[in-house]
Amino acid sequence: MGKLGFTVAAATAAVTCAVAAVVVGKRISSRRKWRKVVRVLLEFEESCGTSLSKLKQVVDAMAVEMHAGLASEGGSKLKMLLTSVDKLPTGSESGVYYALHLGGTNFRVLRVQLGGKRSSIVKQDVERKPIPEHLMTSTTEDLFDFIAESLKEFVDKETGTSSDISSVARRELGFTFSFPVKQTSVSTGILMKWTKGFSIRDMMGKDVCDCLQQAFSRQGLNMHVASLVNDTVGTLALGHYYDDDTVAAVIIGTGTNACYFERADAIIKSQGLLSTTGGMVVNMEWGNFWSSHLPRTSYDIELDANSPNPNEQGFEKMISGMYLGEIVRRVMLKMSQESDIFGPLSASLLKAFVLRTPSMSTMHEDESPDLREVARILDDVLGIQDVPLKVRKLVVNICDVVTRRAARLAAAGIVGILKKTGRDGSGGIAGGRPKTASNSKPRRTVVAIEGGLYSNYRMFREYLNEAVAEILGEEWAPFVELKVTEDGSGIGAALLAALYSSEIVDT
Ligand code: BGC
Repeated sequence: MGKLGFTVAAATAAVTCAVAAVVVGKRISSRRKWRKVVRVLLEFEESCGTSLSKLKQVVDAMAVEMHAGLASEGGSKLKMLLTSVDKLPTGSESGVYYALHLGGTNFRVLRVQLGGKRSSIVKQDVERKPIPEHLMTSTTEDLFDFIAESLKEFVDKETGTSSDISSVARRELGFTFSFPVKQTSVSTGILMKWTKGFSIRDMMGKDVCDCLQQAFSRQGLNMHVASLVNDTVGTLALGHYYDDDTVAAVIIGTGTNACYFERADAIIKSQGLLSTTGGMVVNMEWGNFWSSHLPRTSYDIELDANSPNPNEQGFEKMISGMYLGEIVRRVMLKMSQESDIFGPLSASLLKAFVLRTPSMSTMHEDESPDLREVARILDDVLGIQDVPLKVRKLVVNICDVVTRRAARLAAAGIVGILKKTGRDGSGGIAGGRPKTASNSKPRRTVVAIEGGLYSNYRMFREYLNEAVAEILGEEWAPFVELKVTEDGSGIGAALLAALYSSEIVDT
């Protein structure tokens, strides 16, 4: 080989080695990046841990806080609001009633015709409307006028007549207002705070029914607000209408909350009341529950700090539909900052609340072999394209961790209510402390559930049901039924309007 030949061969070899080194180097660095991302996931999963023993601690904490919240105003982060609802529908209600439900992303109007026999809600017409976003932070008058106008259109359409004050008899309406309200009677109450992104300052401290009744007058609508109820209370009312073993209701939708029927003696003792009838429904406002046993991560802490209501609604921020997608986005953002597995940092990934829970549940439940839906949502919603299958799987894993924790914590909350009411086999609460043994016999107990997260998100529902059974154990679990109560929050308000209004209207 001549000198030139030798040099060329040596140079070729050197180039080949260099290329090989770059390829190997890249592989090593991409393996390193992958390991980093997996570490983010594992750490997140670990801090979201909801072992059975942890769930039992949450059950006890919930029951103890319920006791403390009932015992004194401000005694707990659980407000335990007395609702003045001291009786529940029995099935004998009859007549035509309207209901209006305000509290999430949509509001609904309903007309319900009750037939007088249990299970025979003769007719039910529902209309849903999204709340224009600007009205969520506008003035009371703007929001309530919009609602009253929509109700007027609905009534006129449904009845084919004018609902004008002069032309029809007064109609009775149940108002479901899904925010914390301090009630002074079944049809009066003052807003305590806004949640779920609403913030209308001039409404604070005002009577909610007065605000609505005034909007009806402005719109010339001859309608009387006969009952003011939280959505949980409406759900309990409908649950009880169908099945009188229903003792509690839970909402898991945009927000989350629970209510239950508390015995008179527990209320009298703790509130220093002289008497009350056979008991009363208590709106727990469990979205604000807090306990050091809750598995909280750095992502939750940041989400809370950047929310319009820091240090409030801690339980809700781990559980409800408003927040789950946002937690997933925050974990993905962290991964994207640690590596380039999602390609260059996407501007959409930086936008708070851009990933909504329905998109998250679609990704979580994508059963296609190549996770096509995951790829579509990453592209459409987050502007992330061309991610390999293993990265799509990683995204599904994040959704799974977030949803599993949420569902299992909600399950612990439910068992907490059963514990407080002596229906979980543990012996309940004594002297403000959880007991661990009981000799009471299991009784059939129904918990009504409403909300998109439970009814539309299969994985969430399965995790929740499984955890309730796991916590209760084999002996007691078969006696507890979780029943989806479709539209309960609205229909239930109409039922309570029927129960509490002075006159029955038959038109
Ligand atoms: C509100 C509750 C309501 C729940 C479910 C929470 O944000 O504070 O009053 O019941 O959402 O809608």
